[in-house]
Amino acid sequence: MEQKLEEMSAFFNARSATYDVVHTNGIDGGLESKKIPGEFLPEHCENLLDLGIGTGLELETVFRRFPEICVTGVDCSSEMLALLRKKYPDRNLELHQMSYFDYDFGTRRFDAAMTVMTLHHYTHAVKTELYRRILTALRPGGVYVECDFMIPPGEVPDPQAVEDSLFAEYARLKREQGLSDREEYHFDTPCTEENQIKMLRAAGFINVREVWRKGSTVVLVAEKPKGTSQ
Ligand SMILES: C[S@@+](CC[C@H](N)C(=O)[O-])C[C@H]1O[C@@H](n2cnc3c(N)ncnc32)[C@H](O)[C@@H]1O
Repeated sequence: MEQKLEEMSAFFNARSATYDVVHTNGIDGGLESKKIPGEFLPEHCENLLDLGIGTGLELETVFRRFPEICVTGVDCSSEMLALLRKKYPDRNLELHQMSYFDYDFGTRRFDAAMTVMTLHHYTHAVKTELYRRILTALRPGGVYVECDFMIPPGEVPDPQAVEDSLFAEYARLKREQGLSDREEYHFDTPCTEENQIKMLRAAGFINVREVWRKGSTVVLVAEKPKGTSQ
């Protein structure tokens, strides 16, 4: 049966109650993958921006390493954020229920930023622009960690062809279901790992590198240059 596209926040609101178990069982690397991003935050990290924070599965390592850290989390799903608040009532969390495309990240506010399993729904142009805004939001020398569903080299014979076919399928479904380009819908369009690295470099990040991978779950780390006027 043809997939009926659901608006992004409605999709996650409807699945929030079972999300932690169903999601971690369904991804390569499982729960282990959530423990990795926090290990790559810089020493003395005081302010973290977490986009698509959801129920905060990635925060266990973060709070173990930095119990006093202030985490600014942005997510469009009210139900996912409600579960996160229940999980960590005593932590320093500043949560915003909205699209991260509409949130003003500010300038040089954060020591680090992370996105975990949230950006595989968006195009190159949209992600590159978001990466530019993340770069601006980081202090010089700040670190961005992305853990996501990607198409790594060697997993399939032609990673670019897989990426292209997923974007084409998403466009077809949207067209046939009469859906607007202004809304965000849940459909997986992972990019090749090579393209991910290119986008981060195009946005101005340096030392972009893979630090962990299990199947199609990849962790990339990127840095904001120290001597920058941005
Ligand atoms: C697969 S969950 C990941 C949650 C958490 N980071 C984790 O790894 O368990 C994706 C999350 O991204 C959020 N999301 C997707 N697109 C978003 C957007 N444009 N703005 C804000 N949140 C978004 C969804 O609501 C959902 O909570």
